Amino acid sequence: MNSLGELFSLRGHVAIVTGASSGLGVECARALAIAGADVALAARRGDRLGPLAREFAESYGVRAIGVATDITADADLDRLVAAVEAQLGVADILVNNAGISPTGRAETLPRATWDSGIATNLTAPMMLAQRFARRLIETRQPGRVINMSSIYGLVASSIYRLSAYNASKAGLINLTRQLAIEWAPYGILVNAIAPGWIPTEATEGGMAKPQNRERMERATPLGRLGRPDELRGTIIYLASAASSYVTGTVLSVDGGYVSW
Ligand SMILES: NC(=O)c1ccc[n+]([C@@H]2O[C@H](COP(=O)([O-])OP(=O)(O)OC[C@H]3O[C@@H](n4cnc5c(N)ncnc54)[C@H](OP(=O)(O)O)[C@@H]3O)[C@@H](O)[C@H]2O)c1
Repeated sequence: MNSLGELFSLRGHVAIVTGASSGLGVECARALAIAGADVALAARRGDRLGPLAREFAESYGVRAIGVATDITADADLDRLVAAVEAQLGVADILVNNAGISPTGRAETLPRATWDSGIATNLTAPMMLAQRFARRLIETRQPGRVINMSSIYGLVASSIYRLSAYNASKAGLINLTRQLAIEWAPYGILVNAIAPGWIPTEATEGGMAKPQNRERMERATPLGRLGRPDELRGTIIYLASAASSYVTGTVLSVDGGYVSW
């Protein structure tokens, strides 16, 4: 590795990014495209994916497609993996980014709310990762899985009532470690990212009260919320040769939030 390009280039790689219709998923996909990867954008709102795919293809000279996908439906995951393979080739980078943030008092949280949080944030990443890894194992190729956890996979929240969310994101972190161990012999590296508060559609509601935003800013050593584009470097690092000896770890991108 004697050049920046060799360390960080993703030319020749094929990435799937879930939740690529808004927020952090768009930035993850953009980062991979900037580094040269061909990208498949997956989310339920398929109408948003086509224009983004065209923008990435034109701006970064990569191949990009959108595949309307509900990640909680196994049949959709099968279709996604097959569509990517048919149009771009076997995917070797997976960013399990899609997620939802159900809230509600723990003592009255409806079963359905709990179930949907776990289904989307924990079960679906596992179901997609296993399909992704199977194809790599069958075709004897190495790969990368990047799971989008959260600071709330590492610590609890004193501001928001997020029992289902926090349980799912903590589960995703230890799932990351287990998959890293099981798939290390195949050269499939599995890591997680734990972002702090970054304004997106998902956090709009929580940020609506200025006092909540101020509390989060005060609780963050860097004194401010993050920007979606501040995830780009982490995504490229975890997808590229630069992190070839990194697996089973959680990288916090949180302005120092979990450090004190
Ligand atoms: N923003 C933050 O402060 C923050 C902090 C820590 C962690 N995170 C995590 O980062 C990830 C992205 O969050 P965000 O802030 O970018 O939120 P967002 O703007 O609401 O994006 C969530 C994405 O997930 C997709 N999604 C949700 N359910 C889905 C399903 N069943 N099937 C397919 N796609 C689904 C949505 O697409 P469709 O609705 O089109 O399906 C959307 O693209 C989440 O996992 C979140 O927990 C965010």
